[in-house]
Amino acid sequence: MAKIELAPSILSANFAQLGVDAKAALDAGGSVLHVDVMDGHFVPNVTIGPPVVASLRKATNLPLDVHLMIEDPDQFIPAFADAGADWISVHQEACVHLNRTLELIRSHGANPGVVINPATPVQTLEEVLDMVHHVLVMSVNPGFGGQKFIPSSLDKVRKLALMRTARRANFRIEIDGGMAPDTIGEAVRAGVEVLVAGNAVFGQGNPRENTQRLLKLATEATLQRV
Ligand code: DX5
Ligand code: ZN
Repeated sequence: MAKIELAPSILSANFAQLGVDAKAALDAGGSVLHVDVMDGHFVPNVTIGPPVVASLRKATNLPLDVHLMIEDPDQFIPAFADAGADWISVHQEACVHLNRTLELIRSHGANPGVVINPATPVQTLEEVLDMVHHVLVMSVNPGFGGQKFIPSSLDKVRKLALMRTARRANFRIEIDGGMAPDTIGEAVRAGVEVLVAGNAVFGQGNPRENTQRLLKLATEATLQRV
């Protein structure tokens, strides 16, 4: 069984002390740092670009998981890879030539991932499942932190796990949006291996304690997985 990992999303961190916040969550057991890139076109919000990824690269040796919510990602993939992104994911909905885009990510030395919005069926990924390192299932509509979890996302996780077994593929299944103490267990039981959490880590209280609590709940849920 694949290891369960928590990927703190810096979207809900204090950007005036990004390194401090990221370190707190990673020291507490977060093992991948999730970085949300938004362009104001593909999603109705704007966040950060390659210089921030380059700064985060100096703050941790753990994998930087860069989630591109941008139009025409090919234009920026080299810059994010050069900045130190380890994983780069692109939206199926943003890529006309998805195969080419995933190859581009790999050719720049990063692990390619594909993301699907809540309204996009997993079947649309059939032809790229053998070439991705991770599939990211959005469990909210992308653009903002702190939104409500969409429960039907878990059916997509289950379908993906079946598709992976049928094809003997190796990708990891990641979920993003609305992960919190009351939703994380069911996500793990459905087959998620990488859990992104922004608001639940950085939104209130102490990021260190929040991370520990979420990881404990996720690990306990692995014991109930069928
Ligand atoms: C949403 C982003 C998420 C976001 C999740 O568009 O892709 O990574 O940080 O936030 P929470 O965990 O607050 O739902
Ligand atoms: Zn994200």
